[in-house]
Amino acid sequence: MNFVGEHILSVAQLNRADVEEIFSVADIMTPFAHRERVTRVLDGAILCNLFFEASTRTRLSFGTAFNLLGGSVIETTDMASTSLVKGESLQDFARVVSGYSDVIVMRHPIDGAVAEFAESSRSPVLNGGDGSNEHPTQALLDLYTIKKELRARKKDLDDLRIAVIGDLKYGRAVHSLIKLLKLFRNITVHLVAPPDLGAPENVIADLLKAGHEVQHFEQLAHGIQTVDVLYVTRIQEERFSSSAEAHKCKGLFRINQAVFSQYCEPDTVIMHPLPRDSRDAAQELSVDLDSHPNFAVFRQSDNGLIVRMALFALILDVENKVEDHSAPVGWFSDAKKWD
Ligand code: NCD
Repeated sequence: MNFVGEHILSVAQLNRADVEEIFSVADIMTPFAHRERVTRVLDGAILCNLFFEASTRTRLSFGTAFNLLGGSVIETTDMASTSLVKGESLQDFARVVSGYSDVIVMRHPIDGAVAEFAESSRSPVLNGGDGSNEHPTQALLDLYTIKKELRARKKDLDDLRIAVIGDLKYGRAVHSLIKLLKLFRNITVHLVAPPDLGAPENVIADLLKAGHEVQHFEQLAHGIQTVDVLYVTRIQEERFSSSAEAHKCKGLFRINQAVFSQYCEPDTVIMHPLPRDSRDAAQELSVDLDSHPNFAVFRQSDNGLIVRMALFALILDVENKVEDHSAPVGWFSDAKKWD
């Protein structure tokens, strides 16, 4: 696809060449994300972040990505402080906000609301997560991370074997990731979920249609064997009818050092979109794995910056101009370590 001026609402818009293009622009962005160089290529451009659900990584990494490209960020994080609470429609809201900004990222609690907003927006809109539907940029950064981790193991996205674990019913990050995997060859997906939290039919339909292997597991020990990647997710408590209902599903699957060494191949990469639920009742991914060399979770969040910079560059048509507006970094930037 030609990314210039386009909305990114669903991974269904992307083919394999698009994903590869995003990844190659992401590689170009890496020295800028790592503060080895600075660029002002988006000087004068404004990003509007509209986050109507809790967010740390997605909102801040989109904002940081835009700032690192030389642009400015405006944002609002609470629906109650916007005129949506006065009965304003998403359409009117979109017409107004798109007059103030050159690109918009929106997170909204209702499935499809970001697409509805985008229809009336005069600026490109990126879906930062709509209800339990999709989270396309998370899936792209996840896939970029998987590619990098596997490259170090002399493997690639083709022939990938992945176990996706946890709340596959409401988890929008896994929905987008599973849908995106259909673009590659010979994929094996282990869906490991409690009985009531399996992946919806529409999420796995294309994967099956493309001839990939999809296996369902209710036992963690069975599902996490013979895979290249463990992708662990949180029980999405905010989507349940009550906190008590969510609690029935918490703590059923727990990955820790002992479980990992007993059942997983030693090379298996450990991933999680974050946030981890670190409360006693949940703990789906134990901190005792944090120092394991295969623990890629924070490399994943670092990669979010790079992939989101790439998306902005492609949508605003500056991916080939970044170097022209760049300079060596002029301040102390050696303190941080990048894996
Ligand atoms: C995810 C989300 O918001 O869907 N978080 C994120 O953006 N990294 C996953 C989650 O909240 O569990």
